[in-house]
Amino acid sequence: MIVLGLETSCDETAAAVVTCDAETGAGLILGEAVLSQVAEHKPFGGIVPEVAARAHLTHLDALIHKAMSDAQVGFGDLTAVAATGGPGLIGGVMVGVMTAKAIASVHQIPFLAVNHLEGHALTARLTNQVEFPFLLLLVSGGHCQLLVAEGVNQYRRWGTTVDDAAGEAFDKVAKMLGLGYPGGPAIEAAAKTGNAKRFAFARPMKGKPGCDFSFSGLKTAVRQTAEQLPPGPFQPQDVADLAASFQAAAVESVADRVKRAAQRFKDEYPDGKALVVSGGVAANTALRAMLQNTCDKLGLDFVAPPLKLCTDNAVMIAWAGLERLRKGLTDTMDFKPRPRWPLDPTAAPKHGAGVKA
Ligand code: KG4
Ligand code: ZN
Repeated sequence: MIVLGLETSCDETAAAVVTCDAETGAGLILGEAVLSQVAEHKPFGGIVPEVAARAHLTHLDALIHKAMSDAQVGFGDLTAVAATGGPGLIGGVMVGVMTAKAIASVHQIPFLAVNHLEGHALTARLTNQVEFPFLLLLVSGGHCQLLVAEGVNQYRRWGTTVDDAAGEAFDKVAKMLGLGYPGGPAIEAAAKTGNAKRFAFARPMKGKPGCDFSFSGLKTAVRQTAEQLPPGPFQPQDVADLAASFQAAAVESVADRVKRAAQRFKDEYPDGKALVVSGGVAANTALRAMLQNTCDKLGLDFVAPPLKLCTDNAVMIAWAGLERLRKGLTDTMDFKPRPRWPLDPTAAPKHGAGVKA
């Protein structure tokens, strides 16, 4: 089985080819190519959907060519082609889906529309052979969810954000403090020389029932505190202290939600062994240390795939496509790109900014 995967749902254009061992089923990356659009969006301080869609259209063909030549395969060698079918910025998703459908119909191979979140979820099965069921924390610029992965195409969503995603909060606070885009790495760097105790921000949702997240109140608290500083440009120490205090509050809030979910996971899934993290915010050292600590206390394995596979990439789409293909879960040519696409259709929908699934 050789699967080509395409990812175009946000601000990374990517193509990858994966296969699996015929006997063990273990995954193998044959070729991969990712192009970040950060430079294109930087002048706007955030992602502009129209700019993203045009950039996907411009670059996708060359990235497919690169991934396939690295893998040393031609179209005739492909078993199937997969593309992110949603959730995401619709213009970009359309570019990937239409390209994959064209390849599938010309070369007479199956087409798979992969849920971007399932791509993130299944990555740890490629990199670490994690077995179902496992608990997943997905923390990126667009998503913030706690899910149980029970099997391919089978997820229970226990928590999601009721307003902003975690990475979105880092990005917005960074913008407020003049730290630029993307904000997560900039906040983390500024926080290193800051005093996390100087501003006592409330820890959103801490102690509340359930596993939902919220970051919008914390973001407002940072803004109000920044506005009370002496007029004029921010002093570097004030920025560092605000960044450190914000990061401490955000991480402690996520910690509280994860602890509740991990405890519930232990109770309801006695066979479950691992907590997996995915999404760009997984790069945050303070967050990782907290997750490791929670897992150590509860006797769970903490699995963090290599960072380049935690952030948006096409390896995860090709791999999820392969896992779906093995189950016979192929799609037809009338599949419509989905801006919203919850992984768990039984979970109650949430409304608010940043809620995409
Ligand atoms: O998964 P990703 O590359 O793209 C999607 O949003 O799908 O995640 C990017 C997000 C951005 O919001 C970025 O600010 C955040 O991940 N991020 C971080 C760190 N590195 C990236 N957030 C906190 N700390 C970091 N070190
Ligand atoms: Zn993503």
